[in-house]
Amino acid sequence: MRTTDLDRRQFLAATAAAAGTLALAGPATAQAPIIIKFSHVVAPDTPKGKAAERFKELAEQRLPGKVKVEVYPNSQLYKDGEEMEALALGSVQMLAPSLAKFGPLGVREFEVFDLPYIFDGYEALHKVTDGASGQALLNKLQSKGITGLAYWDNGFKVLSANKPLKAPADVKGQKMRIQSSKVLESQMRALGAIPQTMAFSEVYQALQTGVVDGTENPPSNMFTQKMHEVQKHAIVSDHGYIGYAVIVNKKFWDGLPADVRKELEAAMKQASLFANAIAKQDNEQALDKIKASGKTAVYVPTPQERAAWKKALIGVHKDMESRIGKDTIQSVYKEVGFKPD
Ligand code: LMR
Repeated sequence: MRTTDLDRRQFLAATAAAAGTLALAGPATAQAPIIIKFSHVVAPDTPKGKAAERFKELAEQRLPGKVKVEVYPNSQLYKDGEEMEALALGSVQMLAPSLAKFGPLGVREFEVFDLPYIFDGYEALHKVTDGASGQALLNKLQSKGITGLAYWDNGFKVLSANKPLKAPADVKGQKMRIQSSKVLESQMRALGAIPQTMAFSEVYQALQTGVVDGTENPPSNMFTQKMHEVQKHAIVSDHGYIGYAVIVNKKFWDGLPADVRKELEAAMKQASLFANAIAKQDNEQALDKIKASGKTAVYVPTPQERAAWKKALIGVHKDMESRIGKDTIQSVYKEVGFKPD
C-alpha cells in the first residue's frame, strides 16, 4: 500500500501534537523515572519472588511515572557472593538476602536466626522480626552503608539427601550444601556431616552431579528449584529457619526525594504484610507438591525423633556464642521464650 499525502499529513499533525504536548507539559513529566533494580536469587513463584513483584506493583501504583521497579529473580543479575557488592557499588538498589548471608558482610549477629530450633514456629519468630531485637539488628547495617527496610518470611527447613534421614546419625559423612553462615557450618559439623558453602544458583547442579549429597531449605525453595527431582529423601525436621531482610543502598535511599521515600516505605510495609501472610501456606503447598511428585520420599519425624534432632543440635548455640554475641542470643531467647529442651 502506498503512503498517501493524507497519511503523511495525518502523521505530521500527530507528531506535532505530541511534541506540543511534551513542550506544554514541561520538564517535570519528561523526567526519567527513578529506577530501582531489585535482584534476588529465588524463583518468582516463592514467597520472596511474589513479595518482590507485589512491592513493584504497589510502588509503581503509588508513584506512577516517578518510580520504576525492575525485579530480577533466579540470580539472573547477581548470585550469592556478588549481590552485596553490587548493592554497595550501586549496580542494584534493593536486595532481600537470606538472613544467613550477612556474616561475610561483617554483621555476624544476623546468624542468630540460623541457630537450630531457636524458633518454635512463625509466632515465636515474629516476636523477633516485629520486635526490638529485630529492629536493633537492622540498625547494625547502617554502618555498612545499608538500610534495612523489612523482614520477609520464608519458612522452616527440611533436610534432604539420597538416603533416608530419620535420626541425626543418618547425616554423618554426607556432603551437605549450606549458605555462607558459620552457624550452619557448625550445625552440619555437629551432625558429623561435611558442610559445603555454595551459591544458591549452583545447588541443583551440585546435587544432580553428586558434588554434594544433600542440602537444607524450606519446601518452597526445594520445589521451585526442582531439588526434589535430584533428592531421594527428605525429613521435615523444621530444625532451622530461612527468612530475609529487605535492604537498600543507604546513600541511594537517603538521596531520594522525601515524598518518594515515604511512598516507597508505605509500599514496603504493604508488601511485607503480604509476604508474611503467604509464606506458611506457600511452604505447605510446596511440601504437598514434593510429596505428590513421588520423587522424594518425605519423612515426618515423631515428637521423640524430633527431640533427638534438637538434642544433637542444641550445642551449636553455645559453640556460636562468641561469634554471634551473648547479648544478641540472650535478647532473642527472651523475646521468644526459648527453652533448650
Ligand atoms: C539459599 O541460599 O539456600 C536460600 O537462602 C536462598 C533464598 O534466598 O531463599
